[in-house]
Amino acid sequence: MRCQFFWLLLGRIFINVRFISGGITTPLSIPPSLYWDGDDGWWSKFQIQVGTPGQTVRLLPGTSASARSTLWVVISEGCADVDPNLTNCPNERGYLFQSNLSSTWSTQGIQNGIDGVIFSLNTFEEGVLGLTGNGSYGYDTIRLGLPGPNLPILQKQVLAGIWTDNYFLGSLGLSPVPFNFTILDDPQPSMLGTLRNQSLIPSASWAYAAGAHYQDPPVYGSLTLGGYDASRFEPNNLTFPFAVDFSRDLLVSLQSITYDTIGSSPLLASSIDIFIDSLVTELWLPVAVCEAFAQQFNLTWNAQGQLYLLDEMAHTALLVQNPTFIFTIGQAGGGADTTSIVLPYAAFDLNLTSPIVGDTTRYFPLKQAQNSSQYTLGRTFLQAAYLIADYERRNFSVSRALFPSTSVSENIIAIQPPRDDLQEKESRRFSRGKIAGIVISVTAIFALAIAAVTFWRRFFKVRRQAAGSERISMKEPATKVKADAELDNTNTYQLEGQQTIKVELPVSEHALERYEIDSNVRVHEMGT
Ligand SMILES: *[C@@H]1O[C@H](CO)[C@@H](O)[C@H](O)[C@H]1NC(C)=O
Ligand SMILES: *[C@@H]1O[C@H](CO)[C@@H](O)[C@H](O)[C@H]1NC(C)=O
Ligand SMILES: *[C@@H]1O[C@H](CO)[C@@H](O)[C@H](O)[C@H]1NC(C)=O
Ligand SMILES: *[C@@H]1O[C@H](CO)[C@@H](O)[C@H](O)[C@H]1NC(C)=O
Ligand SMILES: *[C@@H]1O[C@H](CO)[C@@H](O)[C@H](O)[C@H]1NC(C)=O
Ligand SMILES: *[C@@H]1O[C@H](CO)[C@@H](O)[C@H](O)[C@H]1NC(C)=O
Ligand SMILES: *[C@@H]1O[C@H](CO)[C@@H](O)[C@H](O)[C@H]1NC(C)=O
Ligand SMILES: *[C@@H]1O[C@H](CO)[C@@H](O)[C@H](O)[C@H]1NC(C)=O
Ligand SMILES: *[C@@H]1O[C@H](CO)[C@@H](O)[C@H](O)[C@H]1NC(C)=O
Ligand SMILES: *[C@@H]1O[C@H](CO)[C@@H](O)[C@H](O)[C@H]1NC(C)=O
Repeated sequence: MRCQFFWLLLGRIFINVRFISGGITTPLSIPPSLYWDGDDGWWSKFQIQVGTPGQTVRLLPGTSASARSTLWVVISEGCADVDPNLTNCPNERGYLFQSNLSSTWSTQGIQNGIDGVIFSLNTFEEGVLGLTGNGSYGYDTIRLGLPGPNLPILQKQVLAGIWTDNYFLGSLGLSPVPFNFTILDDPQPSMLGTLRNQSLIPSASWAYAAGAHYQDPPVYGSLTLGGYDASRFEPNNLTFPFAVDFSRDLLVSLQSITYDTIGSSPLLASSIDIFIDSLVTELWLPVAVCEAFAQQFNLTWNAQGQLYLLDEMAHTALLVQNPTFIFTIGQAGGGADTTSIVLPYAAFDLNLTSPIVGDTTRYFPLKQAQNSSQYTLGRTFLQAAYLIADYERRNFSVSRALFPSTSVSENIIAIQPPRDDLQEKESRRFSRGKIAGIVISVTAIFALAIAAVTFWRRFFKVRRQAAGSERISMKEPATKVKADAELDNTNTYQLEGQQTIKVELPVSEHALERYEIDSNVRVHEMGT
């Protein structure tokens, strides 16, 4: 009987410790897949499980606020209809998602008649570059990463099944903004929005580096939700506000592009405002800038593909010259403070492969922008840059990426929500209900201590009687427990292999008063 009561108390303590620790959320570090994918370069992706049972797909993080409220997964049509001749297509495209094999797939409420559940992709920005597509939408469960690491499972996430070659790889949208179906009134929470809302990450923020295949050894991408990995970038003092235009939030000013060959003139000399977008591969720059590149490095313009190719001679010359390109970045509109992101030629040394071309072809990832709305710094740039975006403070940073060896462990730092929000949460955390919970916990701890004391007293009484020893004073431990609870309003608990959790106990007179009264009652109830 008494034993049962103990366990109840113990359970209660654990529940409360977990409950309270819910306020202390750590960032999620999503491990990269150990593959390099793409038909226009080598890109590092992240494994996500979709559906029930989970189907593993590899997705490219999508940084754009407007287009990335949903997850994009390549579906069977992407291989069967669009790339029927592509060898090993499902693997090349990062695996396919088959909704008919998932018991949790649902299209309830979004069937739009004739077309089933087909909507155009929300590519407000990318559409300007000609990158559009349609998606077959629905809801399903996702798990961030593979089973094993302690990563959350989210129910009812909006997924778009894609098949277009405009987006060869699926995308893990990082926007916190909800997605709006034209036929639904309710906005549908995005993945980041869901994580934030369920307090699974400290704040609506993320940090991302695309990874660099050209490094020796290659360095995979890095993705942190609710924080950043301090081991992956060189901090600078610059922070940029989000652009007013919500769909071009990560807008910076590109003030110059130079390269380190003596006597060379800048490739870009007057600053432009340019949008950073991870789902675009190339750098979309003014025509004059592209022409400067082409002329300096003997690139060949291919009008049919609207892209720059390199023959072996030009490539060899570039390898010999081995230029380092310096991108000077400041606040959009032209801030005085700048930082520079440095890309070696190797970052631009990419190949086009099937299905874009029949035979592997060297190209230079540069596109001619027709006007300023097309200026884009794509993923090529993000190989050498580390992006941190904080949607609660509405600011972001662009830093030089570091490429630590795999023996260097990550250093994940949480991005806390802005102060007033935090304080508000704190005070809510100690609202009446929770204080009651904490009081019960404290009571329980105290009661356990008393019980332990009682037990020991009896035990030692027996021993003392046997041994005739007078050494042990039973009062001490009990007093100590009480003193700790009174004087120190933080205690540390170690729970089942979890990290140490700091638990704050209420300091208010009232709470302490109640706790004493309660503990008396409990002690009384437990009476020996
Ligand atoms: C696939 O290959 C077949 C035979 O080589 C060819 O007829 C067909 O046009 C190809 N389809 C595509 C989409 O390239
Ligand atoms: C699921 O759909 C795919 C392609 O759409 C099809 O090949 C497969 O046979 C279907 N599986 C089941 C169990 O219906
Ligand atoms: C999307 O679907 C619409 C209607 O079927 C079609 O007109 C349009 O061309 C499709 N867009 C793409 C990019 O395939
Ligand atoms: C969806 O609508 C909500 C308001 O209803 C808005 O805040 C949000 O930005 C919209 N999402 C997108 C992706 O436009
Ligand atoms: C958080 O979730 C609740 C319950 O599902 C919902 O009512 C609320 O609108 C969500 N808030 C945000 C910011 O998504
Ligand atoms: C950042 O600013 C601090 C103080 O203003 C300065 O000491 C430091 O050198 C700066 N760091 C960089 C990388 O500019
Ligand atoms: C470009 O090609 C021309 C001949 O085609 C050659 O003379 C020149 O040296 C090349 N320039 C560079 C920078 O490789
Ligand atoms: C590009 O393809 C060539 C063969 O055409 C190959 O030698 C080279 O290693 C490839 N480069 C990259 C970066 O994959
Ligand atoms: C910019 O150029 C693109 C492609 O030519 C075009 O679709 C778009 O309408 C242009 N935008 C503006 C603002 O002129
Ligand atoms: C956003 O602004 C805050 C406060 O000024 C600053 O501490 C933080 O570093 C900024 N975040 C980013 C990602 O630049």
